[in-house]
Amino acid sequence: MSQDIQHLMRPGTLSLSSLPPLSLYVHLPWCLKKCPYCDFNSHEWQSGASGELPEQRYLDALCSDLEHSLPLIWGRAVHSIFIGGGTPSLFSPAAIDRLISDLRARLNLEADCEITLEANPGTFEKDRFKAFRSAGVTRLSIGVQSFNNAHLKALGRVHDRAQALAAVEEAANAFDTFNLDLMYALPGQTLANLEDDLDTLLAFEPPHVSVYHLTIEPNTVFAKFPPQVPQDDDAYAMLDRITERTALTGMQRYEVSAYAKPNHRCWHNLNYWQFGDYLGIGAGAHSKLSFAHRITRQVRFREPALYMTQALQGAPVTQHEEVSRDDLPFEYMLNALRLKEGFSLTDYMARTGLAMTSIQKGLAAAEAKQLIGRDLNKVWPTERGFDFLSDLQELFLADR
Ligand SMILES: C[S@@+](CC[C@H](N)C(=O)[O-])C[C@H]1O[C@@H](n2cnc3c(N)ncnc32)[C@H](O)[C@@H]1O
Ligand code: SF4
Repeated sequence: MSQDIQHLMRPGTLSLSSLPPLSLYVHLPWCLKKCPYCDFNSHEWQSGASGELPEQRYLDALCSDLEHSLPLIWGRAVHSIFIGGGTPSLFSPAAIDRLISDLRARLNLEADCEITLEANPGTFEKDRFKAFRSAGVTRLSIGVQSFNNAHLKALGRVHDRAQALAAVEEAANAFDTFNLDLMYALPGQTLANLEDDLDTLLAFEPPHVSVYHLTIEPNTVFAKFPPQVPQDDDAYAMLDRITERTALTGMQRYEVSAYAKPNHRCWHNLNYWQFGDYLGIGAGAHSKLSFAHRITRQVRFREPALYMTQALQGAPVTQHEEVSRDDLPFEYMLNALRLKEGFSLTDYMARTGLAMTSIQKGLAAAEAKQLIGRDLNKVWPTERGFDFLSDLQELFLADR
């Protein structure tokens, strides 16, 4: 373990009255092909010469990683698991079954623990959905992105409209709850194109939709060869239509980019936004863990082969740091102000271990700019706050 537990338990500058709920993130890093816009820790898996995915070795590495991390979360219950990527659905159902059994054997999982798996809409992934369910996955998250063949092609996706339709149908058959990822402001996309995507998407009555504005991330193919994307005003109009049309089907925009029917919110992501704790295992995974007197962050080795070697030797962590008192208000707001319902002041104090005085100036400035509403115990972003979210969050930066 990179930091011994006694060191983490020593007195410090924070005072947390209780520890927040704990989630587990598991990163599976391979994809069939790297998409030109993607800056996630995902690596093309070239079959052929190198053969099959190294599933068993990777699962062994995850086990070793988890076992070395257990002292950091000793005795705590796990409320949700998110198996993300990459393309986790490239792993066989037998491998996912082994993974979930390995986790169950080592963790204290809540009886109603949500277990999400990210899946791509390719044909062979779709044929595995029911088996993923039998392995213990309770929620599937499908990277549909669009149902328009030209736009899927522009995004460099390996699936087409027909495969997206078949995958969503299969997910609806196999799972009680599922999420569809939709991207907008795509190269060449018009408002009418987006309406078509929404027609198709909403016809499935999905319980949950995550909506992302295509962003051009540094060090991606799109950053080097930028595609022509819709103007900002057009992109705003698209987002407005998404919010209006999902509302008509009974979905609520409960977070900046997440829409859900009642009782279908993603528990795992809610825990992130409420500044809960998470242990992240797997290549490049991030963790945030609280102790009585400090909050720490960890990052694991990014490159899958190096990660496996390191994890199997009991040293998967490449960075470990304590979040400073000064950074906590902003870090908290980066998450909590994404939520329509905002946060309670009691939660703020419990989760950061700081007093209310640490955000009084920021709250007053945000209120004066009509970016938040508040009562005696709650603070929430106004509609304007949602529209100018980064301006709102910046009011809580340390140097203000
Ligand atoms: C971690 S990715 C993995 C999901 C899955 N591998 C896939 O791509 O279908 C989660 C989601 O982030 C979104 N995403 C990734 N890169 C993005 C970008 N540059 N701009 C906007 N959304 C992005 C996509 O909607 C994607 O489904
Ligand atoms: S499939 Fe998903 S994770 Fe993989 S490269 Fe594409 S966007 Fe990234």
